[in-house]
Amino acid sequence: MKRWRNLSLRVRLTLLYVGLLALLLAVLGGVLYWDFQNFLLESTATRLRAQAKPIIDEASAAAAPLEHAQTLARDLTSRETVALIIGPDGETVAVGKTLPEEPAPPPPDPAYDARALAGENEVTYVAQMNGQRYLVLLIPWRSAPGSPDILGVIQLSTPLAPIENILLRQKLMLGLGMMLTLLAGLAGGLWLTSSALKPLNQMTETCERIAEGDLSQRVNLPEREDEIGRLAQAFDHMVARLEAAFAAQRRFVANAAHELRTPLTAIRGSLEVLMRGAQDDPAATSRLTQGMYREVVRLSRLSEQLLDLSRIGAGATIHKQPIDLQAFFDDFLYQARLLARDRTVTLDAGDPVTILADPDALMEMLFNLMDNAVQHTAENGIITLGWRTTPESVQLWVADDGEGIPADDLPRIFEPFYRGDSSRSRRQGGSGLGLALVQALVEAHGGRITVESQPGQGARFTITLPLTMRDVDPLEKIG
Ligand SMILES: Nc1ncnc2c1ncn2[C@@H]1O[C@H](COP(=O)(O)OP(=O)(O)OP(=O)(O)O)[C@@H](O)[C@H]1O
Ligand SMILES: [Mg+2]
Repeated sequence: MKRWRNLSLRVRLTLLYVGLLALLLAVLGGVLYWDFQNFLLESTATRLRAQAKPIIDEASAAAAPLEHAQTLARDLTSRETVALIIGPDGETVAVGKTLPEEPAPPPPDPAYDARALAGENEVTYVAQMNGQRYLVLLIPWRSAPGSPDILGVIQLSTPLAPIENILLRQKLMLGLGMMLTLLAGLAGGLWLTSSALKPLNQMTETCERIAEGDLSQRVNLPEREDEIGRLAQAFDHMVARLEAAFAAQRRFVANAAHELRTPLTAIRGSLEVLMRGAQDDPAATSRLTQGMYREVVRLSRLSEQLLDLSRIGAGATIHKQPIDLQAFFDDFLYQARLLARDRTVTLDAGDPVTILADPDALMEMLFNLMDNAVQHTAENGIITLGWRTTPESVQLWVADDGEGIPADDLPRIFEPFYRGDSSRSRRQGGSGLGLALVQALVEAHGGRITVESQPGQGARFTITLPLTMRDVDPLEKIG
């Protein structure tokens, strides 16, 4: 069994196919051969009986027919057939063979003779004598055609050699035909499996090249809609996604290193100035240390954001529990107003609902969105928070009337480290991880986040979280 599995698929498929074909041919050939043999024996028997019938009828018509038994036997005998007449007691009454070229009759078989003597008309069997096979027919010899009075049994026998020759030829032809069909089947099977499996070999080679690190490789099969074509497409699709994921990861690491370098360079510069003696100037020292403090704060915020992102990526930090949105937003509104300073923050509350979510994560999502809204609106801007429920989901949003997001930026703002121009130019800008974090948290809850924005007309971020039956407040349903 193990050896069988070690064979290549091509060989296995071909062997299986040829084996089945051989079995089918053998059965078909056997049936054909058997049927043909029966046909030859039956047609010979029928012909001999038909030839003998008028001769026997004529002999029966004579007076005292038994006395003419020898003449009858002689009349029924030819180079092909020899007749033997058996009396009612099983004794041989007459033998037709007189000439040497006439075939010898096989000895009578009492069992079959008894059946013919009992009146059975169609007793036919194959007898063996001196290594030769004979077809033997028994005909009850009746005193008149159809009469129950049986005088004896006429045994006609003919050697089977001519029939056996025809059958042998038939066997050879069948065998040859089978061999040719099997050879054609083998060649066809090999060709078919090789051409069907070729793309698989191609895929294996591609896989090997990819394993060596070249993710730009593709199988690129010419259009085909069969199973292998679909496999190749799925494979190419998978590699493309892997390639994109690896590229994103490389970008991420490069960006992270870059983000770390900026504050570190600033701190290093300040320290160098201090070491060169600036500590003697209290004003310069205070400015430098304050600057360094800001950079360190930025660094620790960055490292926390990075840690959060990687933890969510590993899927470990979500602890869902029921949250009453009304109560949650009441809490959050207070902090949002502190953050917004002079800006107006309003709440557009939806139906009361209890959702299943991680409260810390929910807080972090809204906090980040709120932070962005504050960053990108004027001092007297308006920020709206709110939620709506649908039968399957709840939507939470944070909208502002600030500067909005340019269309070119829209598809990229959720990428880690991506910042719009306005944020980049600002001295105290963030690292661009906020929205990436929000998106990771939303997705960890099975939801999604979308953004709508027109430059100059503000932005609206909408978080959609799925609502299972368990999330819905029973009181709300009754109400
Ligand atoms: N409400 C908004 N209005 C206008 N632009 C926005 C708004 N929210 C996000 N953006 C744009 O999307 C970019 C990415 O936002 P994100 O929160 O990821 O980073 P950030 O706020 O610059 O930095 P961080 O959040 O890490 O402090 C921002 O730089 C800004 O250009
Ligand atoms: Mg932000």
